[in-house]
Amino acid sequence: MRYASITSRLADLGSGKWTLHVRARQLKASGADIIELTIGEPDLPPDPALLEECQRAMNAGRYRYSNGRGEPAVVAALTEKYRRRRSGVTKENILCFPGTQTALFAVMFGLAEAGDGVLVGDPLYATYEGVIRSTGAHPVFVPLNPQHGFHMQAEDLEKAVTPECRVLLLNTPHNPTGAVLTPEEIAAIGAVARRHDLWIVCDEVYEELVFDAAFASPFDNPDLAERTVVVSSISKSHAATGFRSGWAVGPAEFTERLLPISETMLFGQQPFIADMTAYALTHEIGTARQMRESYSHRARLTIDGLAGVPGVSVLPPEAGMFALIDVSGTSLSGEAFAWALLEEEGVAVMPGSSFGDTARNFLRVSLTVPDDVIEEACRRIAALALRCTACRERRA
Ligand SMILES: Cc1ncc(COP(=O)(O)O)c(C=O)c1O
Repeated sequence: MRYASITSRLADLGSGKWTLHVRARQLKASGADIIELTIGEPDLPPDPALLEECQRAMNAGRYRYSNGRGEPAVVAALTEKYRRRRSGVTKENILCFPGTQTALFAVMFGLAEAGDGVLVGDPLYATYEGVIRSTGAHPVFVPLNPQHGFHMQAEDLEKAVTPECRVLLLNTPHNPTGAVLTPEEIAAIGAVARRHDLWIVCDEVYEELVFDAAFASPFDNPDLAERTVVVSSISKSHAATGFRSGWAVGPAEFTERLLPISETMLFGQQPFIADMTAYALTHEIGTARQMRESYSHRARLTIDGLAGVPGVSVLPPEAGMFALIDVSGTSLSGEAFAWALLEEEGVAVMPGSSFGDTARNFLRVSLTVPDDVIEEACRRIAALALRCTACRERRA
């Protein structure tokens, strides 16, 4: 049978990046002692008040068809949230989606097509290449340098731009590196976007999980208002990944043009999820604060746990739920180290190569497990690193 070309374009961009994770799950199911540090799933449950609100809404009959833009209460809550960040935001700027991922997919379909280039930092979140390629556009990678803490530099962006580029896909705070762009970096990046008339799509799903740095966004810069679209959700901020509740916020003309795409694909969001999201956005909920505290503490435990271990060093994350470990000093690639770590020490981490070429010498570890598990994982990582070093010295 014949298939549309999108199936070939995405064939290698789906579950292939998760091969090690799948293998770890198989080993675990067969009884092996595996520490799993692969996925970014918050380890807290959502606040009980959110579950109650969902239940209340369902009992009140809030399970019928919605509309493409979003239920009035959640649209009002989002308008308020983003008006606090930039004046003049109205409900015409908001579109609700089932999660950031769907928002990204729809937004990219509205902005890019075959022949277009989409600029994106490398390393990058695992689904971005698929999102870009599904439209027929191609990614144009902007290397993010560990020497700059993986912060995108305007000069590197300028060097990467080609005449086909239409969109810059930004991610701050960044997965997998935990980098948080500064207002100055955003202003410089924004100047490049203006010069080349690029849209800026900014994925801010980790906005609430910034440790000590200050969050900044192109959305908050009035000079970039006409070209910036934010995508985000309550997945990480409220430990509510499975509820699938997100949004896009952009210029009114943009949301109006996107609305038919959203309606064609989704036919609206579930009203009971919308009510719960409106509740989450308008009440003081402590989940993000708790996660910020435990993830920054566990990042510190990882740094301390691997301090002085030959061949490995931890890049301190500024935000999010992951830490990157540079293993280049062990003379193994991130991929080889990650597989050896699983087979020999029973620790599952993501090879940096799952997030692009620039991260090939890194491992990404998830900080969403208890402190003592992080400490044990560090002991096992250190044991493998020591064996690698001893082996290298014997060969030398
Ligand atoms: C950078 C980034 N964007 C988007 C997502 C998906 O978010 P959502 O659950 O809102 O679809 C993730 C999930 O890990 C992520 O890390």
